Amino acid sequence: MRIDVLTLFPRMFESPLSCSILNRAQEASLVEIALTDIRDFAADSYRKVDDKPYGGGPGMVMMPGAVFDCFEHVQKLSPDKGRTILLTPQGQKFDQKKAAELSAEKRLILIAGKYEGFDERIRIGLDAEQISIGDYVLNGGELAAMVIIDAVVRLLPGALGDEDSAKDDSFSEGLLEYPQYTRPEVFRDMKVPDILLSGDHAKIAEWRKQRSLERTKKWRPDLLQNNKDKK
Ligand code: ADE
Repeated sequence: MRIDVLTLFPRMFESPLSCSILNRAQEASLVEIALTDIRDFAADSYRKVDDKPYGGGPGMVMMPGAVFDCFEHVQKLSPDKGRTILLTPQGQKFDQKKAAELSAEKRLILIAGKYEGFDERIRIGLDAEQISIGDYVLNGGELAAMVIIDAVVRLLPGALGDEDSAKDDSFSEGLLEYPQYTRPEVFRDMKVPDILLSGDHAKIAEWRKQRSLERTKKWRPDLLQNNKDKK
């Protein structure tokens, strides 16, 4: 998979992309992540990429010129057309299902903008899908792009040490994950449930399923409702 990110702040990505699973996945060539600075495509020597909104109002709006030029340059960097995604609080809410869907793509082109917004012609002209990572406003799309990259890359075959570990994640079956324990068997008077030490795999699987259901009902009943609505 190839992921291109168009951003005004490529340096924001340095640390998250160079640690842990994201680093390993790049080293293993499971994913190539390329950052392109939108400001390099600004028309003037001040590298100006935003301006005051027509009609008045606070803040600055990203101008279409640099974003279009940057996008057209990035598109040519690889033969796959890819799926173009604009990060914006106005987008469709990102979730595990969307992460799984995106992880099947050959190429993603993520466009991170300033929070005050993009000139509307960027959305229309690039025919981009809009994604939000939640109902709150970030200073820009960069952290949202990183969230998407993180959630997508861990689903690429081979990205996790243990092939099964993404399968059991919270949300992968529309439920929260069951409680997990590791050593020691007793910690500050809290004991690991006997069933997990029993070696009876069928019983353990049933116990985990019940605990998943129980905690989803208690902590995230909206997920159960969503599952029902989909059926
Ligand atoms: N840019 C600003 N806020 C955002 C959000 N919640 N999701 C995606 N991109 C954003």
